[in-house]
Amino acid sequence: MSTATTDTYRSALEAVDRIVNREAEADEVLRKAVDVLAERFGHYSWTGVYLVEGDDLVLGPWHGPEETEHTRIPIGQGICGAAAASGRTEIVDDVNADGRYLACFVSTRSEIVVPISFDGKVVGEIDIDSDEPSAFTEADQEFLERLALFLSPYAAKLSR
Ligand code: SME
Repeated sequence: MSTATTDTYRSALEAVDRIVNREAEADEVLRKAVDVLAERFGHYSWTGVYLVEGDDLVLGPWHGPEETEHTRIPIGQGICGAAAASGRTEIVDDVNADGRYLACFVSTRSEIVVPISFDGKVVGEIDIDSDEPSAFTEADQEFLERLALFLSPYAAKLSR
């Protein structure tokens, strides 16, 4: 179950807005935005941003108890690669029931991947794993898609 309230989503967006206004460096904006997500949402167990590099997604800033072995994912592979290929958000309620899933952590039960687009092109994505089954709601999707708009010019700068 999602534990976040409407106020939590709103104040997290405000926090990222302040970061965007304060930070000049694109990588700092992404890193601090990832920290905001990790600090404020109990059901976000592992949070990362991937950036598009050619035909791959390459892991940028992340926050979580463990690092992932999936630091480079070909677009089209895994849940991450599916979202990048389609440009649409993926919510997976039970990762173990999804044949596309690339496992990172044994504790992960559900996942959301939100593409970050710039000029109609996917330049990166927000990837969140939860240790709770079916952790991600429409409220998470709406919030993270708004966040992706905030991050879009910064991800575009770092994408190659
Ligand atoms: N589970 C993802 C891979 C990335 S890790 O979750 C950090 C996938 O299936 O694409």
